Amino acid sequence: MGRSHLNQMKAAGMSPIAVTEVDPTRLEAAKVDFPGIETYKSVTEMLKKSSVDLVVLITPHNTHAPLAIQCLKAGRHVVCEKPLAITTEEVNAMIAAAKKSGVMLSTYHNRHWDGCILEAVKLIKKEKVIGDIVRIECHMGGYGKPGDWWRTSRRISGGILYDWGVHLLEYSLQLIDAPITEVSGFSHHGHWAAHTIWKDDSNEDEGFAVVRFKSGQWLTLCISNIDSKQKEGWLEITGTKGTYVMEGGDAKTFVHGADRRITTTRFPNPPGQEHRYYENVRDHLVKGKALVITPEWSRRPIHILDLAVRSAKLGKTLPARHA
Ligand SMILES: NC(=O)c1ccc[n+]([C@@H]2O[C@H](COP(=O)([O-])OP(=O)(O)OC[C@H]3O[C@@H](n4cnc5c(N)ncnc54)[C@H](O)[C@@H]3O)[C@@H](O)[C@H]2O)c1
Repeated sequence: MGRSHLNQMKAAGMSPIAVTEVDPTRLEAAKVDFPGIETYKSVTEMLKKSSVDLVVLITPHNTHAPLAIQCLKAGRHVVCEKPLAITTEEVNAMIAAAKKSGVMLSTYHNRHWDGCILEAVKLIKKEKVIGDIVRIECHMGGYGKPGDWWRTSRRISGGILYDWGVHLLEYSLQLIDAPITEVSGFSHHGHWAAHTIWKDDSNEDEGFAVVRFKSGQWLTLCISNIDSKQKEGWLEITGTKGTYVMEGGDAKTFVHGADRRITTTRFPNPPGQEHRYYENVRDHLVKGKALVITPEWSRRPIHILDLAVRSAKLGKTLPARHA
């Protein structure tokens, strides 16, 4: 991801100045990929020696909040990979640090510009092809032992919901923009744990959340490693006149006609426009244009994930506080 970020930043007219890596082999790779680039072994060293004014954090999830706060306090703008952090409190502390230093904080929600969601927003919100949205079901996964990498550690990743769940929620919150009122979380742990290197610290086998909105709409999120019957699509959006199935490849709609017949349409999504992320960051920093992915926007999916994990542990529904 580091290489991809630097190339996208270059394409947006930015000048990559330095790479910081704790893994020496990856630091060597950066020197080969970006000849002449400054390299550092720690963020502390980089902040001391480099004049770089925008820092991009592309590290495991549990490092996002502490590294971002360190950089923000040093007066540097920060782009942080998704998820912005693991808990709502971390996000609040990051926002407070950015405000105090008068610098930008944004999350790399590149999938905000995926072709599938651009098309879904156009057809569902503007053209109302399925009427009014009633509910959204988000799902991803299948059946299989999770990999032995940091993403499988609950402590490092935040849990099974965080990696893809944050993308699916960020898509959904473009479709339902009402305040969140409460979240119920459910999880199962222990089927794969003993087979992973993380043992008790391994992610849940399945994480599930139910989100209620002030508008009366609701959303479910399921990310699973024990789902033997995979569901179609990433998001299934049910409206008063039809259902829209959204995924990376083709989209599908099932629309009820006046004669009670259902018309099924399958169509390819347009290409994604993820280059717009860094173009917007550039225009915000250089020309003062409005930032699209504000930290307040990114706090919404994190608040849902945080409440879902805590609700599952407590076995009760929790009210939203940062809707
Ligand atoms: N937006 C997307 O589409 C997308 C896709 C893949 C990954 N990601 C996100 O990118 C982030 C990184 O994921 P990845 O797949 O590149 O992980 P990775 O493990 O391949 O890379 C993370 C790197 O961070 C380094 N690192 C860890 N702590 C560090 C520290 N304190 N200082 C400097 N370097 C440190 C590690 O040595 C490692 O090389 C995660 O937040 C992940 O969710 C986003």
